[in-house]
Amino acid sequence: MARDAVKLAPSILAADFSRLGEQVAEAEQAGADRIHVDVMDGHFVPNLSMGAPIVKSLRRVTRLPLEIHMMISNPDFFLEEFVEAGSDSFLVHWEGNNNLHRTVRRIKELGKRTGVVINPATPAAVLEEILPELDQVLVMTVNPGFGHQHFLHSMLPKIERVRQMVERLDGRCEVEVDGGIDEKTAPLASAAGASVLVAGSSIFTDNSGVATAMSRLRASIAFHKSVLLA
Ligand code: DX5
Ligand code: ZN
Repeated sequence: MARDAVKLAPSILAADFSRLGEQVAEAEQAGADRIHVDVMDGHFVPNLSMGAPIVKSLRRVTRLPLEIHMMISNPDFFLEEFVEAGSDSFLVHWEGNNNLHRTVRRIKELGKRTGVVINPATPAAVLEEILPELDQVLVMTVNPGFGHQHFLHSMLPKIERVRQMVERLDGRCEVEVDGGIDEKTAPLASAAGASVLVAGSSIFTDNSGVATAMSRLRASIAFHKSVLLA
């Protein structure tokens, strides 16, 4: 199936927060498609991260879309605050949400792009009925809560299944993956059908800088494709 080039969504969880604006600007100049903001409440996942004030600050330094990965127990409660801060899209988890359809509709009413996230133990099949409402599906390739974890290779067949579901519908929904994306795993996720790759540590902790790290990721995908086509 022919698709456009894979998009990169740098996750600022791994950024140097003392130079956040600079690093995001570097990612923008290097052609990042969007900035991925991981929001954690210490309850939905065992870690704390950032809230709407960070989004507000980022909004002033970048024109890139800001996508908010809500790893919090009550996403509905915080949506408006994040919209006011300048968010462009929301990724909300299937897990723990008894009224996912309502949350998704609310995000759409707010005029924002909508995505649903599934954790490693959650099957692709739960997306069947909600898929027509979505702009994005995010397949977690690690257990959410922390950066710099190992990519779960067992998620590759699930990425393929989600891609098939999307193609059966109308092919419009993006298939995004999050966790453990580096030069080795990016080509695998892309070959399995991912169209957007979230990457934190492989982009922001590379000593050669953000731009070089991003071109390495892109090159790894292109190389893999060329080998497959040869
Ligand atoms: C994990 C977060 C990821 C994280 C990925 O819960 O959702 O977005 O930043 O980090 P890396 O790319 O380092 O695995
Ligand atoms: Zn994330």
